[in-house]
Amino acid sequence: MPDGKILVTGGLGFIGSHTVVELMQAGYEVVIVDDLSNSQLFMLDRIEQITGRRPSFHRVNMQDEALLDQVFRQEPGIAAVIHFAAFKAVGESVKEPLKYFRNNLLSLIHLLQCMQAHHVSRLVFSSSATVYGMADVLPITEDAPFKKALSAYGSTKQMGEEILEKMAQAGIVNAIVLRYFNPVGAHSSGLIGELPIGVPNNLMPFITQTAAGIREQLMVYGDDYDTPDGTCLRDYIHVVDLAVAHVKSCDKLLQQAGNGHLDIYNVGTGNAISVKEMVHAFEQCNGVSLNYHVGPRRAGDVPALYADATKAAQELHWQATLGLQDMVTSAWNWQKNLAKNTTD
Ligand code: WQD
Repeated sequence: MPDGKILVTGGLGFIGSHTVVELMQAGYEVVIVDDLSNSQLFMLDRIEQITGRRPSFHRVNMQDEALLDQVFRQEPGIAAVIHFAAFKAVGESVKEPLKYFRNNLLSLIHLLQCMQAHHVSRLVFSSSATVYGMADVLPITEDAPFKKALSAYGSTKQMGEEILEKMAQAGIVNAIVLRYFNPVGAHSSGLIGELPIGVPNNLMPFITQTAAGIREQLMVYGDDYDTPDGTCLRDYIHVVDLAVAHVKSCDKLLQQAGNGHLDIYNVGTGNAISVKEMVHAFEQCNGVSLNYHVGPRRAGDVPALYADATKAAQELHWQATLGLQDMVTSAWNWQKNLAKNTTD
């Protein structure tokens, strides 16, 4: 059993809940902080059902530094923190930028302040491939420069990385930044998965809700891109693979000596999948037919973005093991269970 607790902020959210499960199954003791602004308390029961243990849970909004500090005082022995808690709706962030700057930046700053006060230096930061913007070279490597962010959400991820860079240079933190590509899928148990509020913006929840009859029709945003079938290419990554990358990051941070390290990793499969390929894989693997039509391009979409994930393989000893079939079948399994539970 690894020594020390892992504090997971946003631990009841989509990626957070899967990471908590993988951490607990690897023998880590987990403490969750979540304000339930985009998650549900029943995820805690589900985590317990899967792992046989209930992690410690604190309902705290991290914009309140004093409350967050109380968690550090009540939970001595935190060895590392994984910071997921943030707003993530790209479109909303364009309309309400201040909401994103306030929440995502203040939460990170308060966390760093508490970590420093309680002598916790190890941090895994949830970043996004969004920081790359329109790529000049594909597959993209971690040393590609940032392009101007198109959304406030993207800006907060870029700024978050910059804050950590300066904190590491000052020798205050040891951080691992994980740049996620497109997380999809759900746990094989069907007990945890994504819970989008309202009309989903992302492709996979829109597909599953269309298949379930919640949405009438899926719109494919443009088929006139310069790609093999004209639709955009993305690097979809199974959320359980992504969760495992966080466990490997904790393992690495706990083994590292000294302060001031900052390592950045792409977390993707390296495979470019088009929107149409995703739609057809979903239909074929699940034996369902999707009502979709091709519409105009969506503003802000880049034609293609996929990872060079070599660095994570070499330094984190991590690589994706779950393919497209696992992604589409687990996502559909989760959606079907969700429909059952909400009609209970
Ligand atoms: C994927 C592809 C769409 C919906 C965003 C954020 C990123 C990260 C993940 C973080 C694109 C197409 C989509 C639909 C469609 N977010 N599409 N019809 O835009 O690559 O990345 O989510 O938390 O930061 O930018 O993901 O799932 O929205 O889109 O045709 O109804 O599916 O055009 O090509 P995206 P996405």
